[in-house]
Amino acid sequence: MDDRTPRIEDVYGLLLSPDEIAALPEPLGSLYLSLPPMLSAEEIARVNRGTKVQGGEYVYRGLAFAVPPGVLVPGGTSEVIFDALHDGLVETQGASVIVMGCGAGVEPVLARRRGAREIHAMDIHEASVASSLASFERHTGPRDPDRHHFLVSDLFSALPRGARADLIVFNPPANPLRSDDPDLARVNFSGSAIMVRFFDEIASRELLAPGGRVITVLSNASNLQGIVGHALRRGFRPEILRRKTWPAPYDKILTHLLSLTLDAR
Ligand SMILES: C[S@@+](CC[C@H](N)C(=O)[O-])C[C@H]1O[C@@H](n2cnc3c(N)ncnc32)[C@H](O)[C@@H]1O
Repeated sequence: MDDRTPRIEDVYGLLLSPDEIAALPEPLGSLYLSLPPMLSAEEIARVNRGTKVQGGEYVYRGLAFAVPPGVLVPGGTSEVIFDALHDGLVETQGASVIVMGCGAGVEPVLARRRGAREIHAMDIHEASVASSLASFERHTGPRDPDRHHFLVSDLFSALPRGARADLIVFNPPANPLRSDDPDLARVNFSGSAIMVRFFDEIASRELLAPGGRVITVLSNASNLQGIVGHALRRGFRPEILRRKTWPAPYDKILTHLLSLTLDAR
């Protein structure tokens, strides 16, 4: 990214007002107040220099993924979700799962290996969807076209009407800086706007089945408070499943694995 001219979005529009915070029931008020404020533009630029989109091979717990150029080579943040799927913190047995922004395609492989009933793997980027499908079949066998769907889609736009999921997982490109590189912008630097659309579409299209939840990973290198504030306004109930810290030079980053359910309306 071009960090000579870092531009940070207007974070404050999404933050909850003092009155909105005071009106939150516990434990939601305490959870919201526990979220760290966003790092400075300079710090965010510094910790994002390692984002890789040049392609290569990525290995997760012995499973090799061929990553074409333009597709995110998964990193430590990706692995926060991979590990939760792998170790069963996030259960997929018997579940209908949507993997939003599937990238290199690790999450669909883990979901099928742990018994998902149905999988929609979606990404706005054609090469990400194609490589996800190739890795899925390489590691788990031929897809069942009635149960395993690989869709090029801007968020949920290509999801068939009426589809519902028990689990929606998304490692989002919610970093608030700008990149002039279209691949970096897509995999990392799309700002909070993508999460606003994400939660709005889930709520307005009623994409969660009863008891279903959203799993996402966000840190203080994005507008964590504002994004969670927006989700709260839309009726989601967030819970922090894991907090993760990192060794230097990433030691200012506080990563949160979040689970969000939607109150019945
Ligand atoms: C941070 S990457 C995560 C990739 C992979 N899940 C991982 O964790 O390594 C974000 C992914 O979201 C995809 N993406 C960006 N904007 C999108 C949109 N509007 N709709 C669907 N996918 C999108 C990107 O192409 C990218 O693959």
